[in-house]
Amino acid sequence: MSTPHSLTTAPHADFELEVVEGVWPEDISGEMVFSSPQRCTPMDYSIFDWGSICRLSLAAGTRGAGPGRFAWQTRSIQSPGKRLWDRLPEQFTTTATGYQSPLGPANAANTAPLPWGGRLYTTWDAGRPIELHPDTLEFVAEVGHRDSWGGNSLEMPGIMPFLLSTAHPVVDPERDCLWSVKLEFVMEPSIGLRPSVVRYDAADGTQVRHWPLEGVSFLGSTHTVSQTRDWLILADSGNFKPDPAEMFGGERVLTIDHEVPVWLIRKDQLDGLATGTPVTPITLTMAPPAGHFYARWDDSDGISVVWEGMDLMDLAFYLKADDLDVNGNPIDPASVGLYNMAMAPETIVEVLFDPESGKAIERGIYREDWTFNLQLSAMDWSTEGLTKPTLHHVTYQGCRPHNISLRAATLYADRIDLDQLREATPGALATFERGSMELKAKWDYPNLDDHITSPTFAPRGGGSSGAQSAYAGGEPGGHDGYVLQPVMSDDGFRVELFDAAAVGKGPIAVLKGTNRECVPMVLHSAWMPSYHDLVDAERLRFSDELSDDLMASVPEELHGAIREVAAECDELF
Ligand SMILES: [Fe+2]
Repeated sequence: MSTPHSLTTAPHADFELEVVEGVWPEDISGEMVFSSPQRCTPMDYSIFDWGSICRLSLAAGTRGAGPGRFAWQTRSIQSPGKRLWDRLPEQFTTTATGYQSPLGPANAANTAPLPWGGRLYTTWDAGRPIELHPDTLEFVAEVGHRDSWGGNSLEMPGIMPFLLSTAHPVVDPERDCLWSVKLEFVMEPSIGLRPSVVRYDAADGTQVRHWPLEGVSFLGSTHTVSQTRDWLILADSGNFKPDPAEMFGGERVLTIDHEVPVWLIRKDQLDGLATGTPVTPITLTMAPPAGHFYARWDDSDGISVVWEGMDLMDLAFYLKADDLDVNGNPIDPASVGLYNMAMAPETIVEVLFDPESGKAIERGIYREDWTFNLQLSAMDWSTEGLTKPTLHHVTYQGCRPHNISLRAATLYADRIDLDQLREATPGALATFERGSMELKAKWDYPNLDDHITSPTFAPRGGGSSGAQSAYAGGEPGGHDGYVLQPVMSDDGFRVELFDAAAVGKGPIAVLKGTNRECVPMVLHSAWMPSYHDLVDAERLRFSDELSDDLMASVPEELHGAIREVAAECDELF
């Protein structure tokens, strides 16, 4: 069984869900939001298409749902780029890394929702965060004038900037800022990408500040930024490598790394430092590569990080129409354009990064034959929960041989055990103890038609105590509350709700669409309280960036559409 056809065939649509099993608890509130690439254009690799935001309200009868029902809403992110694509689709071509056009590259903003206070952002790795209206979910603004980001990652014409960044900037609750990253092509000390730390202050309005990392050049990506109270942590994700051979029409020949560099930067190094001034990080090495890692906020006894390894998960590899799978069968046409799934079980590690010795010290590690496709995790994102995390909930999708291409298996022949990839295995939601990475609970999904995806932690009675941050429940840390596990299936999308302290007992309630609706592929999810108003703030307007020079870099006949989009966006806030 390959992944559900509905991942690529279901439309984005609003619908209602109802409880089909168990009892929905009274003390859950707020909303679960998802990012998802739309399918606007037939594209080689569908994760690069324009983004949408989806929202599941966790309180029955809200956001327009009928009594006892739960609203699922989805909205296209109508950024300036998407509005230009709507008007001028013939100006856009697609490559293995998404849209290109004389207007500049797209900001698809399709990967992760990022709630911050009463505001909602959506992110991706090759563009600025985009702010959405927390009530209507409509596009509001992009974050930070392109010049304040230090300009394009690689010089190119166009009124849409080319900014390689991260899909996971992190909110600093003490400084009320967002820490992000920008990558730019450099020739020294070697040809590659140089990261800069980027800081966006809520009070800064339209500007960000950036500080390049002195002497760093690498060929990879920075999918996650993490932090403690005093430190920022950047890493080469190591599992998405742009391959020049492939870009010029050939076969992929690059493979993912065995180990990756990790960069530590003290936050106070940046205080008062003029934007653009280089800073020198402390560099460590860590294995295996990881897309996602999350540090404990409290660093009084060290920088403790849960490192979600992506062993032999090459995210640059996608499935093509003429691919065979690892058992020699043709790839399911509905899976074409999806990513090649994991070719080994994944390792999760609790690791201490020691800036004094430059060592990564493993404190706990978990890897078993069943830990294939460590997809994503659920944790308590309140400041209180991040300070003293207790439980970490992880979704494993299981081995999926139908979604592993023979092409990938051949390229990685000397690094994989083919016999371990022949059979599909159940997915599982697993709970680990922070610090030790001891497995505390596990719930299997033996029906191989179920494809479990990005889980979310929702606190119990979130935001009910004035003494705590709005995201905190009664006992922060990840054990007191609920884990929401979305299940993609051609039989209808479900959301299963677990007691976070007892995942092994199975779901206590299950939601399903009233007409067994299916949902297309979603990427990250997040929990947030329900907000209705747009926070009053200074914001960047698209028209603020349309300098004479930039307009001159775009063919004259496109100027009319650009001006129309700018006028439309000027009316948004
Ligand atoms: Fe991610």
